[in-house]
Amino acid sequence: MQQSSGRPLKYEPRAGREFPGASTWDLGCNFLTRLRARQDHASMVDHESHMALLEALHDEIEPQRNVWQNPFAIAKAEVAFRIVLSAIRLHGLQVAGKTCLDLGCGAVNPLVRLFPLLMLGAKQVQGFELEPVRNSWKAVKFLADVVAAAVVDPSRVFGDLEVDRMQLLANLADFDLAKMARGEMSGIPAARATLVQRSIVATGLASGSADVLMSNSVLEHLPDLDAAMAEWARITPSGGYGMHGIDVIDHRSYAKATIHPLEFLTIASKEPIVFESNRFRLHEFEALFARHGFVVLEQWRGPKLTIPDDVRRRMVEPWRSMPIAQLEYGWSQFLVRKK
Ligand SMILES: C[S@@+](CC[C@H](N)C(=O)[O-])C[C@H]1O[C@@H](n2cnc3c(N)ncnc32)[C@H](O)[C@@H]1O
Repeated sequence: MQQSSGRPLKYEPRAGREFPGASTWDLGCNFLTRLRARQDHASMVDHESHMALLEALHDEIEPQRNVWQNPFAIAKAEVAFRIVLSAIRLHGLQVAGKTCLDLGCGAVNPLVRLFPLLMLGAKQVQGFELEPVRNSWKAVKFLADVVAAAVVDPSRVFGDLEVDRMQLLANLADFDLAKMARGEMSGIPAARATLVQRSIVATGLASGSADVLMSNSVLEHLPDLDAAMAEWARITPSGGYGMHGIDVIDHRSYAKATIHPLEFLTIASKEPIVFESNRFRLHEFEALFARHGFVVLEQWRGPKLTIPDDVRRRMVEPWRSMPIAQLEYGWSQFLVRKK
């Protein structure tokens, strides 16, 4: 084995085997297809160089995949936890013994936000979502990876919160972590964590029964915000917390860079939802929380949007008359507490 701080092997494309014009995506898809076909190796040396290639790819890929944009990255869990950390540090949240919900948790990795709270001793968590989980094997296995990461290095999940690793494990004593590492849902006790396939506007939960409500990129999609917030206020006891990330830009701009993030404010329509969004602005969400008895404790805004004159001129009412200060932010994380 080569002794060096860098990678031991440098891979050069073999002569005549370059793929001019092929994207990393194309090559990756092709490679994955071949891997899945499980080619036989002619010799031991052939097999060993195949393994060395896989290891080199793994070393290259691992740091690139551990980013918050990847739903199956530890970094995703850590970034999602930051608002909880703030609630604990600055606003007196005590997670132990609490019931916590993720409303509209998504079908990809539905417990990524809630699982760290279980590790901190939450009594029970529930993810509400209309869609069934896309790949439960992957989602469950990921949670075991989060536990492993947190036990080895708690800061990877909990930032600079002081946590006792043995306590983390004790808080999961009723989980079968080995089963979870194999992607088996039965490793998760239903009394501690469940996925509920029903609308977040009619949760069916008892009044005042949920201490911490989370949502991410959900409120901007709801056609009747007052109905949803009335339900969320009903199930939150006095002193309960809400943590809501809201993305108020035109979602078409994610796929097409030529579409301005506020382009949808130029469309005259009486429909409650236009291009998947209710088009409410952030100050209107502040008012919504207040109307339903929630006090805003923190508001973390994303970077300011640049609004070209052309977009501003084409906006229709009510946005045409809104001051720029009410239009220039596209994202906010709210931390709220019920009065
Ligand atoms: C943009 S996704 C966000 C998913 C997840 N929170 C995340 O951060 O990745 C919005 C999710 O809200 C869910 N949703 C929308 N309306 C809902 C409702 N009335 N009840 C339950 N889920 C809902 C959608 O199915 C979708 O998965």
